[in-house]
Amino acid sequence: METTFSAIKADVGSVAGHHVVPEELEESAISVLEEAKGKDIFDYFVTHCGDDLELIITHDKGEDSEEVYEIAWNAFLKATEKAKELGLYGAGQDLLSDAFSGNIKGMGPGIAEMEFKERKSNPVFTFMMDKTEPGAFNLPMYKIFADPFNTAGLVLDPNMHSGFVFEVWDIKESKKINFYCPNDLYDMLALIGAKSRYVIKRVYPKEDNPKATSQEPAAVISTEKLSHIAGEYVGKDDPVAVVRGQSGLPAAGEILEPFTHPELVSGWMKGSHNGPLMPVPVEDATPTRFDGPPRAICLGFQVKDGMLIGPVDSFADPAFDKTREKAHQVSDYMRAHGPFEPHRLPEEEMEYTTLPDVMEKINHRFEDMD
Ligand code: F6R
Ligand code: MG
Ligand code: MG
Repeated sequence: METTFSAIKADVGSVAGHHVVPEELEESAISVLEEAKGKDIFDYFVTHCGDDLELIITHDKGEDSEEVYEIAWNAFLKATEKAKELGLYGAGQDLLSDAFSGNIKGMGPGIAEMEFKERKSNPVFTFMMDKTEPGAFNLPMYKIFADPFNTAGLVLDPNMHSGFVFEVWDIKESKKINFYCPNDLYDMLALIGAKSRYVIKRVYPKEDNPKATSQEPAAVISTEKLSHIAGEYVGKDDPVAVVRGQSGLPAAGEILEPFTHPELVSGWMKGSHNGPLMPVPVEDATPTRFDGPPRAICLGFQVKDGMLIGPVDSFADPAFDKTREKAHQVSDYMRAHGPFEPHRLPEEEMEYTTLPDVMEKINHRFEDMD
């Protein structure tokens, strides 16, 4: 059977400041999804990462389904009502429009979804990040699907030996390009290292991977660029990603392994700082230190006949303790730079923050030099 797995997120308010989605908001979203379960959708799971409300929905409507998007929109709307009632900070922040117009894309929420033919067993991982941007997935996705030092299967598993195809988006120019790895590896790295502009959107098994069912992605990442949509700074586009694993695809452990490196990502305070990405269990997705440091959570499900079995809170494993400790050390080191680069983002990336307003204020005081 064909199942669609959709991870949809929005920041519709949190306690205190931009920190954590309270239970009441999750309950509001659940009440809408519960109503749809067994009718328009197969199953759902609601969670949060920091100030982002996360909806995981399974259904048979395919990608870009107006019906499913409307259900998600209504869930966010109901949570927004609750957030307003409780006077929460940033209530309704990511819902950039008052009315649903048929497609949730471009309206604020972030989406990662894929349709796939269910196999005998279907492990699916949902990654959710707060206080960072979609390009934060570039490094881990590269490692999972292209780095044999991370993914033993690229060397050892004949099904994976031919490599993977990466669909990369230039989010500034609205263009896309496919890279066939390992052949195109160096060309791809030349681009995706610039992670604020070139973003991995999907990864596919190569057609000569005998386990590939053509054009079914192994991974998909949300790339909505909230600040571009709204035309001003309205928070970072805290991203989500969905990754399928096992039998011909990377194993669960290969999918999680890249997160043992607390890579530097942009986001953190006012979406304007570089900081370490810290993998945490859901209960520790509470970015309060300088509104951070940026967090990643991961929930591992089995999907069977469209139903969600689990989840396992993947980063609850103490094997990630050392990564967290390293992230604390990197946080101290980066924070010591205060408003100086490279803790603060480079000037071009400050364009969509409140910095231009400050520049405008002092602009008239500049004089020409002789
Ligand atoms: C970062 C984030 C927070 C806010 C900061 C200021 O993504 O959400 O760091 O940018 O708390 O928030 P405002 O401008 O709403 O006072
Ligand atoms: Mg917020
Ligand atoms: Mg957020």
